[in-house]
Amino acid sequence: MSVSDTVPPLLSHYSLRGHNTFGLEAFARWFCRIESPEQFAAVLRDPRVTGLPHLVLGGGSNVVLTRDFEGVAMLVCLAGKRLVREDDQAWYVEAAAGENWHEFVAWTLAQGLPGLENLALIPGTVGAAPVQNIGAYGLEMAERFASLRVVELATGETRELDAAQCRFGYRDSFFKREGRGRFAITSVTFRLPKAWAPRAEYADVARALQASGAQASPQAIFDAVVAVRRAKLPDPAQLGNAGSFFKNPVVDAQMFEALHAREPQIVSYRQADGRFKLAAGWLIDRCGWKGRAIGAAAVHERQALVLVNRGGATGAQVLALAQAIQEDVRARFGVCLEAEPVVI
Ligand code: EPU
Repeated sequence: MSVSDTVPPLLSHYSLRGHNTFGLEAFARWFCRIESPEQFAAVLRDPRVTGLPHLVLGGGSNVVLTRDFEGVAMLVCLAGKRLVREDDQAWYVEAAAGENWHEFVAWTLAQGLPGLENLALIPGTVGAAPVQNIGAYGLEMAERFASLRVVELATGETRELDAAQCRFGYRDSFFKREGRGRFAITSVTFRLPKAWAPRAEYADVARALQASGAQASPQAIFDAVVAVRRAKLPDPAQLGNAGSFFKNPVVDAQMFEALHAREPQIVSYRQADGRFKLAAGWLIDRCGWKGRAIGAAAVHERQALVLVNRGGATGAQVLALAQAIQEDVRARFGVCLEAEPVVI
């Protein structure tokens, strides 16, 4: 046995409050920090935790903890990032799952490796990025993805998965469906095309770029995205939240026409398949939810898609608020809103 596959210290009755960006209080029966891929399987073989449920935690930016977790929470602390190879067309950059996403994006730019700048300031870790295929301001992670490495928790076997195997969709992947709870992502490799072109069509970003007067360089787009996010989205370090709480729903053309006739202002994006994606934030806003609260769980004042913890909110309050919003939007528009974060 080497040091890398020894069981890390297992802490009991451990508060997860500092490990979820909502800042919800919940205790894990057992908690440990994973510092090598081999440690996942080593922990799960430990007699204190065998048979108990397990939870792989990155930055905790996409979970809602509704009660204590009667199992073992494994915090991914795998570190390291490097340019692994390049060819005529692209650079391939690998980062360990525990690396902070935003710092990783900033580092790629500092190395002269552009391509991820539209995804600046998204909270969370590199390992969490593929789970929900993070996306913002005209770019989804899947477009810059090459492959990832996982550990299968039941067997301790490692595997490499390509994009097709990860089955990326809008805020979706294999890891939220068939693969849920079965794997821990240990590293991700990104493919950054050498032929760089700005993605600056998104209105907010275009406006911020213009205001800065800068040419559309990778760094200028990074700065514009940071400015837009800071203006619109609450910083989880100051006000607990998990980003967008709902996915933008997609409806068929017939349903869209009916809605549009009633609500000419409705914000929508036509999809390649002829359906329409609706801005959930607009629907929620239109129902008058901005700034409303249940207990200390509230709808953000500037972006109705984001639920926030005003201080001391419980997971139950967050869920009650989410449910009330879902029922209202369904009653008013006949549209179902699907929650984006994983509810534990
Ligand atoms: N809107 C309102 N009222 C609101 C919120 C939004 O009227 O309270 C309107 C806006 O005016 C705009 C439209 O709805 O016309 C869309 O709003 P926005 O551009 O802010 O984007 P979004 O659709 O609400 C999505 C992502 C965000 C991402 C932005 C930018 C989802 C679920 N959310 O939000 O992702 O940053 O686009 O690309 O797709 C996240 O996933 O955590 C996240 C923040």
